[in-house]
Amino acid sequence: MDILRSIEASRAACAEFTARGTVGLVPTMGALHDGHLSLVKAARSQNDFVVATVFVNPLQFGQGEDLQNYPRAEAEDAQRLKEGGVDLTLFLNADEMYTSTNVTRITQGELGTALEGAARPGHFDGVLTVVCKLFHITTPARAYFGQKDFQQTVVVRRMVSDLNMPVEIVVCPTCRDPDGLALSSRNAYLSPVERTEGLALIASLLEVQRQFTGGKRTSAALEAAMREVLSQKLTKSPDYAAIIRPTNFSRPLNVEVGDVAVVAAPVGSTRLLDNHVLGDKLGPFSNSL
Ligand code: PAF
Repeated sequence: MDILRSIEASRAACAEFTARGTVGLVPTMGALHDGHLSLVKAARSQNDFVVATVFVNPLQFGQGEDLQNYPRAEAEDAQRLKEGGVDLTLFLNADEMYTSTNVTRITQGELGTALEGAARPGHFDGVLTVVCKLFHITTPARAYFGQKDFQQTVVVRRMVSDLNMPVEIVVCPTCRDPDGLALSSRNAYLSPVERTEGLALIASLLEVQRQFTGGKRTSAALEAAMREVLSQKLTKSPDYAAIIRPTNFSRPLNVEVGDVAVVAAPVGSTRLLDNHVLGDKLGPFSNSL
């Protein structure tokens, strides 16, 4: 596996790949876990070349968020990506990605300010801007994102469609620990007690799927069921626990198969999020639903 650090060298190497076949891009912020490796595996199976990027994007962190402390593990990440069959990894740096004259941003109005966007103002502008830059640097045929960051997958797909970008967005299932906790680089911040508390999120999704399977369809009742589970298990109030239409994040009165239950909550000093497409399998609990 090759490693490059400058934009110019990265563009040249990716242009060479593109001339010879398809590139699958796995964009990451590093501190890789099995969820990232599942994206690499999918990319490896569908493309001639796999390019991974590791870049902790300052633009998507708000003031007071964990940019400085975000887990960084370059050597381990490189090893895992190599073992996963990545051809080229780009370790990009903020000074080059955002020079002092860089002012262009991608923004999506209401779509980028709902839910996560409300809790983290400017977050999706930062995500979309960096993803757009990464697409231009790596010219992928396909790019791979995890379902865990559900809202991110929707806004990225919308950007690709609105701006006619020739990239297929592939969304891979959320990877979970055996007890259901969604894998996230930020889980590294959790103490053992906080990790147990964090299971509140999957418990609320399990409950909403149970009630949905049992025939309940009014979103008020289903959201109340989620909040009830969360209030029993969490120390702090959740940022949101809602059921949304996946295309525009509107709140349906009557819930249908394919609507998405989304939840985000602070646990200790860590913010956890999770989601579940109603009617889908739910990780280790699929057989009990
Ligand atoms: O999901 C992430 O890790 C990041 O938001 C991404 C897509 C790599 C952009 O920085």
